[in-house]
Amino acid sequence: MKTPFSFLARFTQRKTPGRDHGVLVTGGAGGIGRAIAETLVAEGRKVAVLDIGEPVDPLPGPVLFIRGDVSSEADVDDAVQAAVDAFGGLDGLVNNAGIGITKPMEQLALSEWNRVLATNLTGSFLCTQKAAKHLRTSRGAVVNIASTRARQSEKDTEAYSASKGGIVALTHAMAASLGPEIRVNCISPGWIETRPDAAHSAADEAQHPCGRVGIPADVAGLAAYLLSDRAGFVTGQDFVVDGGMTKKMIYEK
Ligand SMILES: NC(=O)c1ccc[n+]([C@@H]2O[C@H](COP(=O)([O-])OP(=O)(O)OC[C@H]3O[C@@H](n4cnc5c(N)ncnc54)[C@H](O)[C@@H]3O)[C@@H](O)[C@H]2O)c1
Repeated sequence: MKTPFSFLARFTQRKTPGRDHGVLVTGGAGGIGRAIAETLVAEGRKVAVLDIGEPVDPLPGPVLFIRGDVSSEADVDDAVQAAVDAFGGLDGLVNNAGIGITKPMEQLALSEWNRVLATNLTGSFLCTQKAAKHLRTSRGAVVNIASTRARQSEKDTEAYSASKGGIVALTHAMAASLGPEIRVNCISPGWIETRPDAAHSAADEAQHPCGRVGIPADVAGLAAYLLSDRAGFVTGQDFVVDGGMTKKMIYEK
């Protein structure tokens, strides 16, 4: 007789290659990307970081640092090859590198618009496109970092919001194209404080049902899960990590 256990075993005994290749994290020199890299290293994953800037503090020992621009096809080609050479393959990619420009839209230069879209949206496409061959072989996973700004905005943030909305749509498009071998998911962080010594007002904390502003580890834990085989039935999704801020109604009293 089939027991729930044997039913479960049928699935867990499917060929799931060991996660012994590398994960490439873009924009991992600081902030959220660095926390993702540190969390993955703590879980025993091999990690390479691709960043346009040098890390302010040294990255954890085993991390391979690659200097480059996610919007440059040549840099991305080189970075993927460097990670594959170092780790023998790739089984994860985190498209985290991102920039924003806050400026009234009538004054925003086309070059500024293009730079934000090139880094945030084109960079996510390009890195995934170049890593896809390796991720297919390993049956790997991609995590894109969008933002709650894909859903709500402050004024003067058109390029950033458009790029993040594009990443949410790119996520389900790539999940459809790259499955079943590669899973592609998205995390939309809300307010994540990346400065360790920053203080927040009671009002700022109170607008979060969780009672606080986020920290990079809040995003990193979910990214590590989505990159793992525990998330094997999860793809094409966008997960909001914002302490509930976008679910809270705000009235002026
Ligand atoms: N911090 C937040 O509140 C928040 C909220 C929502 C979404 N996000 C998103 O999370 C991601 C990380 O944000 P963060 O707050 O840690 O930012 P951050 O500025 O601390 O880190 C971004 C990293 O990306 C790198 N980078 C920028 N342009 C690059 C390029 N062209 N090529 C390679 N690397 C490049 C930077 O050098 C930096 O190390 C971004 O995509 C951001 O839009 C952040």
